Amino acid sequence: MTALIPLGVYVHWPYCARICPYCDFNVLRARGREVEAARLATAIIDDLRAQAALTGPRELVSIFFGGGTPSLMDPARVAEIVDIARRLWTPAADLEVSLEANPTDAEADRFGALADAGVNRLSLGLQALDDTALKFLGRNHDAAQGRRAAEVAARLFPRLSLDLIYALPGQSPADWTAALRAAIALGAEHISPYQLTIETGTAFDRAIRRGVFAPPGEDLAADLYDATQAVLEADGFEAYEVSNHARGATARSRHNLVYWRGHDYVGVGPGAHGRLTLNGTRNSTLAADRPGDYIAQAAATGTGFSSREALSAQDVAEERVISGMRVLEGIRFTEVAILGLSPAHPKVRNFVDLGLLVDDVERLRATADGRRVLDRLTTELAIG
Ligand SMILES: C[S@@+](CC[C@H](N)C(=O)[O-])C[C@H]1O[C@@H](n2cnc3c(N)ncnc32)[C@H](O)[C@@H]1O
Ligand code: SF4
Repeated sequence: MTALIPLGVYVHWPYCARICPYCDFNVLRARGREVEAARLATAIIDDLRAQAALTGPRELVSIFFGGGTPSLMDPARVAEIVDIARRLWTPAADLEVSLEANPTDAEADRFGALADAGVNRLSLGLQALDDTALKFLGRNHDAAQGRRAAEVAARLFPRLSLDLIYALPGQSPADWTAALRAAIALGAEHISPYQLTIETGTAFDRAIRRGVFAPPGEDLAADLYDATQAVLEADGFEAYEVSNHARGATARSRHNLVYWRGHDYVGVGPGAHGRLTLNGTRNSTLAADRPGDYIAQAAATGTGFSSREALSAQDVAEERVISGMRVLEGIRFTEVAILGLSPAHPKVRNFVDLGLLVDDVERLRATADGRRVLDRLTTELAIG
C-alpha cells in the first residue's frame, strides 16, 4: 500500500478581545460580532469539506487553530472542526491539534473544554512575565494571570508552548535572561521567543514616529538574540528553527514543520493561505481577509479561498529555500536544483567560506552565524 501524502490544516480565527498595539495579523475586535462569528464557524466547516474534495485522501498530521484568538472560540465548534477534519482525511496516529490561547483567567477557565474538544497542544501567548512589560505591550492580562494560565495549561494539555516577545525598549540582556528563566520554570516543552517587530501601520509604528519610544539598536538586539540562544540551549531547548526552541525532537511543532518542509496544507478562515499539490502541480490559495467576504465566497463556491494560483517549479524552489532554511535540517540540494544551487555552486562555496552555510554535500543548511542573517542569506540564494 502506498503511503498517503501528509497534510496540515490551518484554521484562522480573527477575533480578539482587544487589539494589541504591535500586531498586524488579520484581526478584529470580537465585541458585537457574535452573530458573524457563528456564521464564520459554519463557513469554515463548509470550506473544509470542499477542500477535502479537492485534495482527496491524505494523512492528516496536524490541525492548527491560529489567530487572532482561537481560545475565544466556542469549544463545541472547535470539537466539531476537529471531528470533521478527522473524518475527511486519515488522521495520523500522533495527530497534533494546536490552538493559540491568550492567558486571561476567563480563557484559562475554558482550557478544560478545549482539551476535551481534542486540542492536545496549547500555544500560550504569555509575551512577558512582568506587569510593566505587559502594560507596555497593551495586553489584557497581568503576569499573575499569565502564570496561572500556564499552570492550568501544563496540567490539561499533553504539550505546551509559550510565546514571548523581547527587545522591548530599555530591556537589558539581564532582564531578558531573567524573563526567559521564569518562563522555563513554567515547565513548557517548547518556547517561541520573538523579537518585537515594528510593523508598518500599527499603533507602535505611529508611536515610534512621534518619538514616544525607540526600539533597541542593532547591537543590543544582537546581544538579546545571543542571550536567547545561550539561556535556552543551556536548559535543553534546541533552536530547531530561528524563533522556535524545543526540548527534544518530539516537542517540535509538527504544524510548523509542515510549512518548513514544504508539505501541503489546507488554509481555512479569513485571510488563510494554503498550499495544495493537485494533479502534480503545487497551488497557492488565499482567502479574503474580511469574514463577510470569506463567508460569501464559501457560500458561493464551496471553497473559501478567493484566489488559487498554480506555482511554477521556480516559485516552488524559491519558497523551499526561504522557508526550509529556517529549520536546522535545511533542505536537500535536489529540491532546489532548478535554481542551479549545488554544493559546488560559487555562491554556495562563498557562503561556506564565510561560515554562513554548513559544508554539506546533501543539504543546504545555515550555520548559527548564517541564521543570524537568514533573510539576507536566503534572498541571495533564492533570488540574488
Ligand atoms: C498570531 S499571534 C496570536 C497569539 C495570541 N492571540 C496572543 O496574542 O497571545 C502569535 C504570536 O505572534 C507574536 N507576535 C505578534 N505580533 C508580533 C510582533 N509585532 N513582534 C513580535 N512578535 C509578535 C506573539 O508572540 C504572538 O503570541
Ligand atoms: S497579538 Fe494576539 S491578542 Fe493581540 S491583537 Fe494580535 S492576535 Fe490579537
